Amino acid sequence: MSEKDQQLRAQAIEEIEKYKQKVEADPYRQSFHHMPPVGLLNDPNGFIQWKGIYHLFYQWMPFDTGHGAKFWGHYTSDDFVNWTHEKAALTPSEWFDKNGVYSGSAVSHEGLLYLFYTGNVKDEQGNRETYQCLAVSEDGIHFEKKGVVVHLPAGYTAHFRDPKVWKKSDHWYMVIGAQSENMEGKAVLFRSSNLYEWEFLGSITGSNEEQLGDFGYMWECPDVFELNGKDILVVSPQGLEEEGMNYANTYQSGYFAGTLDYDHPKFVHGPFRELDRGFEFYAPQTTLDEKGRRILVGWMGVPDQYEQAHPTIENQWVHCLTLPRELTWNGEQMLQKPVEELKEMRGPVLLHSSITIENDQKAIRGVEGKPVELNLEFDKVEDQFAIELFQHASLSYKEGILTLSRPHLEDKKKTEFRRVKLEDGLKNLHLFIDHSSIEVFVNDGKEVFTSRIFPQPEEERILFTSLGTTTFSIEQWKLNGFQ
Ligand code: FRU
Repeated sequence: MSEKDQQLRAQAIEEIEKYKQKVEADPYRQSFHHMPPVGLLNDPNGFIQWKGIYHLFYQWMPFDTGHGAKFWGHYTSDDFVNWTHEKAALTPSEWFDKNGVYSGSAVSHEGLLYLFYTGNVKDEQGNRETYQCLAVSEDGIHFEKKGVVVHLPAGYTAHFRDPKVWKKSDHWYMVIGAQSENMEGKAVLFRSSNLYEWEFLGSITGSNEEQLGDFGYMWECPDVFELNGKDILVVSPQGLEEEGMNYANTYQSGYFAGTLDYDHPKFVHGPFRELDRGFEFYAPQTTLDEKGRRILVGWMGVPDQYEQAHPTIENQWVHCLTLPRELTWNGEQMLQKPVEELKEMRGPVLLHSSITIENDQKAIRGVEGKPVELNLEFDKVEDQFAIELFQHASLSYKEGILTLSRPHLEDKKKTEFRRVKLEDGLKNLHLFIDHSSIEVFVNDGKEVFTSRIFPQPEEERILFTSLGTTTFSIEQWKLNGFQ
């Protein structure tokens, strides 16, 4: 460990200590989501199950609630419920990463844990340089930086980052989020046989290539994996215009499904589909765990989308990660569902098996508070149905459209909305409500709404409204949260 590295670690620990009381007293601290101990968190990084243990790293700015020279923070768990916050894994200590150890991924090879990340460098004039770097660990806690393994190829700007590495047959592959010199977002591919030397294979798809029109000026955080015989490219494009109910956030996050020809290389794929319909979701990353599950975690935030309006800023922290979600392919699209281990957080169940509400607004006995998990299965939705949460946010269904609304984060007098059309009507809603967030899994995970909410902390009421007749069953669990 270099002197600079030791110094940065010591400063981060001091910062945690300095704000510990203030941060922990914040009523919006979450009970089952990963947060920074102080400062700002953004993307999940290096997600892997290694020697039985889940490692979940994250982009961390300890010294500010804005973005800057990022560290890699680090959580570990063997069951997704009991988590340990480890020492920071990587700090911006070297010439090739001095302005940020940016996002990246992890692989296991011959008993070692390899982390690939982007070294972000800026000169005095603010000109950016980018280096794809490697760090290796024998114990999963201490990482030795091996330096730069990939330099910027010709034809691309320095917005070239977020390496995701995986193995296919005899080779390692790395996909990177890039911007061409013509300001087009791209996903580019590299190949290696030893994890140190990488051959540039070119773009596999991107804005203004055969299958896409103009599709943004930069693609961040790509991830490639196989699901049920399909190749999937998850990516977070920047620069898409809002289109009807789609692309409503500042930047998007979604996937293409198709076939990746590794030899040519080209990705032949279908249309882009958004992964989430809520206000805060970006830069997700997946891993294949030892049980063979493809699990996704995202950042519950969006860059440049009124981040400074989050009320937790005054308590010196901001943002959290989403719950881990298992991905499956139903023949047409990906489905997302919270990993089953999260059931361990549940207290006793409260079940109301058949509730009918007719032209009325009602509370349901015992259904209230946070943190809770709610599962609603609908038998009949004649006209309109809504759930009002804590006199603050609401989820409403009308004419085939599900809408999440909340007070506008910047202008509280306004209400803001996110919507999606449900092709097969409203079948079920599975909600995870924490102190300042909500994740709604709709129709067995065909759609998800992920959002921060900031209700009055003491407000516990959940109300159900129906126009016409709605009949459903509801289960509720109070959640114990992460341990
Ligand atoms: C996405 C992102 C990545 C980058 C990281 C920096 O949110 O901009 O492209 O590596 O955040 O923190």
